[in-house]
Amino acid sequence: MPLLDLAMRQCKGWIPESAMKEVGKIIDIPFIKVYEVATFYSMFNLKPIGKYFIQFCTTTPCWLKGSDDLLELCKSYLNVGLNETTEDGNFTLKEVECLGACVNAPMVQINDDYFEDLDEESLIKLLDNLRNGNKVKIGSQLKERKCSEPIKIVGKNKNVKR
Ligand code: FES
Repeated sequence: MPLLDLAMRQCKGWIPESAMKEVGKIIDIPFIKVYEVATFYSMFNLKPIGKYFIQFCTTTPCWLKGSDDLLELCKSYLNVGLNETTEDGNFTLKEVECLGACVNAPMVQINDDYFEDLDEESLIKLLDNLRNGNKVKIGSQLKERKCSEPIKIVGKNKNVKR
């Protein structure tokens, strides 16, 4: 798997069959074994992707915090469907299972970075900044939150203060 990851990075984010064959040769296992691993895990892309690879988590904790609505917003804002790349080649969108940052749900992974505690405003701002080549804030998008530290709960409905 580390070799597949390395191959994917060398091939601009995806793994052609020729790279899988080379990985098989290096560790002396049949191509089909490498292919089985590459096709099993969602982290490996089997076709070219855009400059920014958006992995949208929609598993239960993110879903409870509104990931479905954010995903729809993302699709319509970028004018792209799941597993598709925008016409300008900038964004590829994929739905994935839990990425292990549930405490900061909802979240997305874009290339190697996590963007967490998203809402409609912060998601659109993030996409705009990426599209325009501006600096982006990695991690929690809440101003007052560092990493996954506890956040203040207010009100009788225990709504999270944003
Ligand atoms: S459910 Fe989204 S990061 Fe775990």
